[in-house]
Amino acid sequence: MKYVQIIFSPTGGTEKVSRALAANWPSAELVDLSDAEGDYAKTIFWPEDVALIAMPSFGGLAPQIALERLSRVKGNGARCILAAVYGNRAYEDTLIQMEDTAEKCGFQIIAAVSAVAEYSIMRRYAAGRPDRADCGQLADFGRKIDEKLRRGDLSKPAIPGNRPYKKAGGAGLVPKADPSCTECGLCAKRCPVRAIDPKAPKRTNPKKCISCMRCVSVCPQKARKVNGAMVSVAALAIKKACSGHKENELFL
Ligand SMILES: Cc1cc2nc3c(=O)[nH]c(=O)nc-3n(C[C@H](O)[C@H](O)[C@H](O)COP(=O)(O)O)c2cc1C
Repeated sequence: MKYVQIIFSPTGGTEKVSRALAANWPSAELVDLSDAEGDYAKTIFWPEDVALIAMPSFGGLAPQIALERLSRVKGNGARCILAAVYGNRAYEDTLIQMEDTAEKCGFQIIAAVSAVAEYSIMRRYAAGRPDRADCGQLADFGRKIDEKLRRGDLSKPAIPGNRPYKKAGGAGLVPKADPSCTECGLCAKRCPVRAIDPKAPKRTNPKKCISCMRCVSVCPQKARKVNGAMVSVAALAIKKACSGHKENELFL
């Protein structure tokens, strides 16, 4: 029996949530869905195994590339927990898309979680989350999920969201390199969708970029940025929706 965390976390918020949920579980292997080189078809489960699948919400949906990579994993009846992580606006159809893909892979969903983490483009929203209180609560969710697993209860909770899913939004913000870029190539290496030219890292393919902010978060020079004026406009547009303290949720 193994516990595995399957995570897509471009800037680390989703990973923090996943680790907090699994804090009291036996040590879990990690499958990184942001690895463009990953051979996900080699990730094979057995019915006694447990998978925690965690993804961020992008525009109220699960990132398409993460769903595609997850779809290659072989669930073989293993029990699974879904976690959607969002920046204090809304996660809308993220969990239900994850549910559909996980079931197609052959997983049995026994729990789902929604959790708040700092908004990776507009860090003023949900700043500092998941904080200490969130992590304590998420660890407690993890304990309740583990109790359900140990009881052998395979019931599936009702998972929020709509089918058909909401429509995906248009092109997002494409980060650009400023003159302090040393062309070290780390951004190109870590980009989940290979949108950055490894031979000329100042060049980003806007058609491939998913605006996940991985390149901004890994740049050692802090040279990659999104257009500040566009971020301010976008932040203003969702100010009301992002206000207030949204609670983490457990669906058991
Ligand atoms: C392109 C993009 C779209 C996003 N859309 C939403 C959204 O619709 N609702 C929301 O609450 N947060 C949204 N967020 C915030 C992320 O869900 C949140 O910051 C998450 O923690 C990012 O995960 P990561 O830190 O693992 O990369 C979005 C972030 C990005 C980069």
